[in-house]
Amino acid sequence: MEKNDSSQAYPMNGGDGDSSYTNNSSYQKSLSDVAMSLINEAIADMLDTQNFVRGHPFRIADLGCSVGPNTFTTVKNIINSVQHKYQTLKITPMPEFQVFFNDHATNDFNTLFKTLPADKEYFAAGVPGSFYSRLFPSSSVHVIHSSFALHWLSKVPEEVLERGSIAWNKGRVHYAGSDEEVVLAYKKQYVKDTEAFLKARAEEVVCGGLVVVLVPGRPNEVPHSECIGNVLFEVLGCCLLDMAKEGKIDEEKVDSLNIPIYYASPQELKEIVDRNGCFTIEKMKGLPRIVEPETKDHARRLAIGVRVGVEAVLKGHFEDESIDELFQSFSNRLEEQPSLYSSGGAAILFSVLRRNDK
Ligand SMILES: C[S@@+](CC[C@H](N)C(=O)[O-])C[C@H]1O[C@@H](n2cnc3c(N)ncnc32)[C@H](O)[C@@H]1O
Repeated sequence: MEKNDSSQAYPMNGGDGDSSYTNNSSYQKSLSDVAMSLINEAIADMLDTQNFVRGHPFRIADLGCSVGPNTFTTVKNIINSVQHKYQTLKITPMPEFQVFFNDHATNDFNTLFKTLPADKEYFAAGVPGSFYSRLFPSSSVHVIHSSFALHWLSKVPEEVLERGSIAWNKGRVHYAGSDEEVVLAYKKQYVKDTEAFLKARAEEVVCGGLVVVLVPGRPNEVPHSECIGNVLFEVLGCCLLDMAKEGKIDEEKVDSLNIPIYYASPQELKEIVDRNGCFTIEKMKGLPRIVEPETKDHARRLAIGVRVGVEAVLKGHFEDESIDELFQSFSNRLEEQPSLYSSGGAAILFSVLRRNDK
C-alpha cells in the first residue's frame, strides 16, 4: 500500500458551536441539494450493476465527509437512488449497504458518529486518512462521493515557501494576484494530487461503479484573478498585511502562510481524467451560481464561511485574538465593498466518472 506521509491536514471546525462546520455549512448544503437530482440521474442511468456480485454488500464512501449533517443527507440520497434502481430492474436480493465516512484522522469523528441518524439503513464505518492515497481494498467500492473537498491540495507547494525560489510567495497567502511562477507551482501540485486521487480510486472502484465529485472551481474562460474564491483570499491576505504594517502580527508569518487550495477549471480536470484512462466522463458541468442579495448579513456569513474553512491553516501561524481581529476586518471589508464578491466567476463543478473495464 502506498503512503502519503507528507500530507497536511486542516479539518473543518468540529463540535456544534457557533463557528463549527455543522452550523456553518448551509452554502455547501444548498449546492449539494442542487446536485442531488443529478446524483439520482447518474445512479439511474450510469451505474452499471452488471458485474456487481448479487447478495454482497453495496459499498458507498464519502471522501472528505467532515462532521455532517451534509454527509448524512448525501448518503441517504445515494442509498434511496440505488434501492430505486434495484427495484426498477427487479434485481434481488436488495443488497445491504455499508457506508465509509472518510476524512483526515484529525477530523472530529466523535461528533460525526454521535450524530449518525438513528434511522440509518446502513452499516457505518470511519476511514481516517488522506484521499490522495489508497483507502480501500481493490475493487471493493461501488459509489464514491466527494463534495467540497478536492480543492484542498495535499500540501502547500514547496517552492512557494522557499526564500530565493522564483516561486517564493512573499506577502501573499494564496496564488491569487501572485506571479505566474506561484500560480504554476499551485497548479503542478493540483495535477499531482488529482492524478494520485484518480490512481487510488481506479484501484478501489469496481467496474461499472461511479465516482461523483462536487468541487468549487473556475469556469474555463475565467482567469484565476477573477475567480471569487481567489478574490476572497486576496482580500484576506491584504487584511493580514495591514495588521502586519500596524505591528500587530509578524510580517514573516504572513510570508510563510499559504492556503493550500486550488480552484481548477473543468478543462484542467478533464485532461487529468483522460490521462488516467480508467474512467469514462459521464457528466462534467458547472452548477448555476446561487446569487444572494448584497446585505450586511451576507457579507458576515461569507466571512464566517471562509473562517470555518481556513481557520485550521491560520491557527498554526497566529494567536486566536489576531485571528478574531483578522476576520472582523475581513468581514468589514466585504461589507463595505460588496462588488468584491457579487460579481466575478465561480463554478461549482459537478462530475460523474464511471470506472471502465480497462
Ligand atoms: C468543506 S469540508 C466538506 C464537507 C462535506 N463533504 C460537505 O460537503 O459538507 C472539506 C473536508 O475535506 C476534508 N479533506 C481535505 N483534504 C482531504 C484529504 N486529502 N483527505 C481526506 N479529507 C480531506 C477536510 O478535512 C474537510 O473535512
